[in-house]
Amino acid sequence: MRISILGGTGDIGEGLALRWGRDTDHEIVIGSREADRAVTAATRYAGQLQARGYDPTITGDGNEAAVRGADVVVASVPPYSVADAIEQLGESIPEDAIIVTPAVGIKRDDDGVHYHRPSVGSVTRLAADAASESVSVVGAFHSVPAQRLADLDDPLDMDTIVIGDDTDARTTILGLANEIEGLTALNGGPIANAPEVESLTALLINLGRYNESLHEAGIRVVSPDRPAYDS
Ligand SMILES: NC(=O)c1ccc[n+]([C@@H]2O[C@H](COP(=O)([O-])OP(=O)(O)OC[C@H]3O[C@@H](n4cnc5c(N)ncnc54)[C@H](OP(=O)(O)O)[C@@H]3O)[C@@H](O)[C@H]2O)c1
Repeated sequence: MRISILGGTGDIGEGLALRWGRDTDHEIVIGSREADRAVTAATRYAGQLQARGYDPTITGDGNEAAVRGADVVVASVPPYSVADAIEQLGESIPEDAIIVTPAVGIKRDDDGVHYHRPSVGSVTRLAADAASESVSVVGAFHSVPAQRLADLDDPLDMDTIVIGDDTDARTTILGLANEIEGLTALNGGPIANAPEVESLTALLINLGRYNESLHEAGIRVVSPDRPAYDS
């Protein structure tokens, strides 16, 4: 699979590139508004993995070139830029590609951070509205702290909730997320459920601020059939 990471020079893009580069054979293309920046980042990520004995395929290019031929495009850019970035790339994104957005709208005040729900309901919906009809949009990785993804010694042991209207696309991204060691992908249903998923990130950031032991926390959903820890 060819995975293009728009804004792959940033924090969550770095973490995803390192994890997929280590745990899978997928071809990773780092995208940036500046091709040179993407090449520099891709070289750095590949070097980091090679130093650990892995042989990843990670290259870099400008965003528009990076999405050509992509099976999956991760829109790893700030939430207020997701729709513009998708619109600008328009037909460069292959017709049958899946766009994945980890974007979460948050605003800060003195008390903490708060979910900033766009008028259409969620950032995932904004992204879906900006994409062409043939492209499926899926939300994932919202509650996964970028720093922990990029720390390859971190076992993660956390969940991510995947949402999307197209069940095939959602299944593909559930699989892609599950390929990351230590991450378990949970099916969150269609994009109508995105606000609940996106708003979890603000909760986690606030818990980290008010509880010393909860910095960079992720989520782990437990149930009688799924205990907190594997015994
Ligand atoms: N950080 C986290 O822990 C985390 C966790 C879960 C989800 N998220 C979500 O993941 C997304 C990326 O987060 P991040 O922390 O990786 O962000 P970031 O580091 O601030 O930005 C990612 C990349 O986006 C590109 N970018 C910046 N402004 C842009 C613009 N106006 N238009 C297009 N591209 C732009 C930049 O790449 P170039 O300058 O190279 O183009 C930048 O390196 C956000 O939507 C965030 O809500 C983040």
